[in-house]
Amino acid sequence: MTITDTESTTPARQATAKTVLMCRPDFFTVSYSINPWMNPNDPTDTSLAVKQWQTLYDTYIELGFEVELIDPIDGLPDMVYAANGGFVIDGKAYGALFTYDERKAEGPAYMDWFGANGFTVADPVNVNEGEGDFLLVGDNILAGMGFRTSVESHRELAEISGRNVVSLNLINPSFYHVDTAIAKLDDTNIAYLESAFDEPSLEKLRALYPDAILATEEDAAVLGLNSYSDGYNIVIAARAKDFERQLKERGYNPIGVDLSELLLGGGGVKCCTLELRR
Ligand code: ARG
Repeated sequence: MTITDTESTTPARQATAKTVLMCRPDFFTVSYSINPWMNPNDPTDTSLAVKQWQTLYDTYIELGFEVELIDPIDGLPDMVYAANGGFVIDGKAYGALFTYDERKAEGPAYMDWFGANGFTVADPVNVNEGEGDFLLVGDNILAGMGFRTSVESHRELAEISGRNVVSLNLINPSFYHVDTAIAKLDDTNIAYLESAFDEPSLEKLRALYPDAILATEEDAAVLGLNSYSDGYNIVIAARAKDFERQLKERGYNPIGVDLSELLLGGGGVKCCTLELRR
């Protein structure tokens, strides 16, 4: 007879301090609608947006992150969603080429910043919205398509980065960027919202991450998956209660922040965060 230890043990999680780029929402408002969250008739409070954003910034500093800042530009209210500014890996910055005219000017603004801060800039040929649709998990880049980022840009990024790009088809307009439907937990695991993807994409996700956390619709509806992890600490939407519980159960340390004002533009924690990998 063999005795096997069937008791599940929580693995020790490892935090790695990150370097990120953020943009203070000094000019944040909702003056146009390019996703279902945005209603230009609803009032926004820019000073509250700045206050909430500051809490996220302070949280990162407390976690020992290095936070770099790009100057916000008047007339570009979505610039606070820095994740869309590009995708940075091995000191190379693949620039963003936005889908909608309202955000197009952000592409060159972010590329200028990358160039001025020591990154080699790859000017994009194909439409893509940066880290909003490209999540690096280990050596795979999980890449969204269907609403914003083009499949052609997936190939472009594969060439530039030398990484394996996994194309995923988003099907729910409320989860229009892959970072609204997938949370990276660490280099080997993710959490995701099943209903946001088509069946072939789900097959890929199930094969790659059999142990993934499956998020509830309720948590996804407050952009709970739009979170940022250092491998142990995971900054999430404070209202994503089930996600918080599941993360704790798995040995992570969820930290809730309230970005309700930025949710009016259709973005959360991850949208405000662009990882810089030198
Ligand atoms: N209003 C912005 C847009 O629709 C929100 C971007 C959110 N960013 C993200 N990485 N999901 O483009």
